Amino acid sequence: MLLGDRNCLLLCCSYCVTMSTRIYDCFMTEPSQPAQLIDRFGRTVDYLRISITDRCDFRCVYCMAEDMVFLPRAQVLSLEEIYTLAQVFVELGVKKIRITGGEPLVRKGVLALLQNIGQLAGLDELVLTTNGSQLENMAAGLKEAGVKRINISLDTLDADKFKVITRTGDLHQVIRGIHAAKSVGFKRIKINAVILKNRNHLEVTDLVQFAIDNGIDISFIEEMPLGVVSQHDRSEAYYASDLIKADLYPHFTLIQSLEKTGGPSNYFHVAGTQTRIGFISPHSENFCSSCNRVRLTVEGRLLLCLGNEHSVDLKQQLRANPGNMALLRQAIVDAMLIKPEKHEFNIHEQPVILRYMNMTGG
Ligand code: 5AD
Ligand code: SF4
Repeated sequence: MLLGDRNCLLLCCSYCVTMSTRIYDCFMTEPSQPAQLIDRFGRTVDYLRISITDRCDFRCVYCMAEDMVFLPRAQVLSLEEIYTLAQVFVELGVKKIRITGGEPLVRKGVLALLQNIGQLAGLDELVLTTNGSQLENMAAGLKEAGVKRINISLDTLDADKFKVITRTGDLHQVIRGIHAAKSVGFKRIKINAVILKNRNHLEVTDLVQFAIDNGIDISFIEEMPLGVVSQHDRSEAYYASDLIKADLYPHFTLIQSLEKTGGPSNYFHVAGTQTRIGFISPHSENFCSSCNRVRLTVEGRLLLCLGNEHSVDLKQQLRANPGNMALLRQAIVDAMLIKPEKHEFNIHEQPVILRYMNMTGG
């Protein structure tokens, strides 16, 4: 069932109604208190990820089908609509916004959008996820626009394998992009590496060494079953975080970090270096109890969990009631009541979630 409208509230339990009252009270009757988005499990949502385009110059095998059909313009949020939504979320207590895609840097006007969002009063951090292909030319502009940190996807250091995994990407261009980001002064740059058995699992040590040599961080991600992919069987390609750790132990001293970022990553410091290694393990280690995030898809659907379809159509709200911020705010507050408790991924079956990662951003 797709719980996408207010009628779903009728299905909620009394606990949920209590939480709902708390949310309304907090927002409606105590304006002196800062607004907060709280779901029915008591989790505060203060992190929004926005996919600003479904387009990308790469076609990574775990993210997209080879022959992707992209959305027509009218179905995609305009830059103005994205800004309006960001503004409302910040008014509702969101402290961190990540801009993602697809590849966000291929969208025209992205720098101006980032600059505007970065200036929203109350927002602590504007961050970006990119495949790095445009960074060589855009790193300086991103820094100027107020982006605080950048995550860059990099699954292999072998140019041929890079071509196989991304289908269209050029490794050297991305490496130049990483260097450009460093040279304009970005700190705590992070590489995201999706590890697939028999494709790039033998490279985890090299990837960590690359991160150490460049003074940056790295996160290893277990592949998530989003959308139907053709080139590999996801259960065969599954390579658990524990296997990666076992591969790394003979080469590096890993010290578990006690630092809690509120995110899904479990962090380790590499002794004697600046580098942190994160493990994002949606299959082997569920992280949903501390979830603090929601996602805005490129079509303006507020997605309450990456691994479920519970969502609210904010684009429809925006377009049907132009300028009515109160209605929009209420729709977002109400949406918290359908945030699911946790994701249910099963890599051994056909994906239940048919949307690809490029619709929602990683
Ligand atoms: N599973 C896990 N991670 C994915 N990404 C894209 N598709 C998937 C998937 N199916 C990651 C990319 C990138 C981020 C945007 O999401 O590697 O780092
Ligand atoms: Fe593009 Fe990122 Fe998807 Fe690769 S993972 S196809 S770079 S959006």
